[in-house]
Amino acid sequence: MQTPFVIALDGPAASGKGTLARLLADRYGLAHLDTGALYRGVAWLILDLGGDPADADLAAAVARDYATEKLAGADIRTRDVGAAASIVAANPKVRAALLDFQRRFAKHPPGGAKGAVLDGRDIGTVVCPDAAVKFFVTASPRVRARRRWRELAPSRPGLEESAVYDDLLERDARDAARADAPLTRADDAELLDTTHLSIDAAFAAACRVIDGVFRRCES
Ligand code: CDP
Repeated sequence: MQTPFVIALDGPAASGKGTLARLLADRYGLAHLDTGALYRGVAWLILDLGGDPADADLAAAVARDYATEKLAGADIRTRDVGAAASIVAANPKVRAALLDFQRRFAKHPPGGAKGAVLDGRDIGTVVCPDAAVKFFVTASPRVRARRRWRELAPSRPGLEESAVYDDLLERDARDAARADAPLTRADDAELLDTTHLSIDAAFAAACRVIDGVFRRCES
């Protein structure tokens, strides 16, 4: 069996990595895993139980018992779930419980795909350190806050952009400061700063890097 072609996309909140991951998966016929959704899912299940995301044993138990089917109809994209996700994500037992699933997805991409795109915070550093291509996607905090506010505002009238900005900074700080698998750029990751890039331009830049890797693999 050929080694699956894995693309790792890491970066802070609302940097554009999720959109980019979906476009790249489509373009190259790869499976896509949004690993943030796993942490958001665990956070949502804890909040749904009336639990505290900072309760390490409860979070670990929920993560070990995690199943996507339990999330039918759940809105995991809210601010509260995002904040709770970054609390549970700092818990090493939660990370350990979700690691195998992510690695299996990369090693055996579903649907017979020849590879996978995984986006998150620690894909290039911990989950798939041998990924064929790695990107660290970022943008200025102001631009990221504007993007996230535009996503959330239609369903949250009255939501202030400044509140979204504060949330992002708090979450970035927590994600970067945690001891286990902090948000950091892998040494061999391409930096993709999307502050002044449209999604089309970011996609084109990523494709140039990936096509270069394909050419090197073929020659
Ligand atoms: O979509 P957004 O960029 O806001 O965040 P996300 O990718 O949905 O991830 C939500 C939270 O999960 C992050 O703030 C991280 O704390 C955590 N996470 C993580 O620790 N490791 C990952 N591989 C993915 C997400």
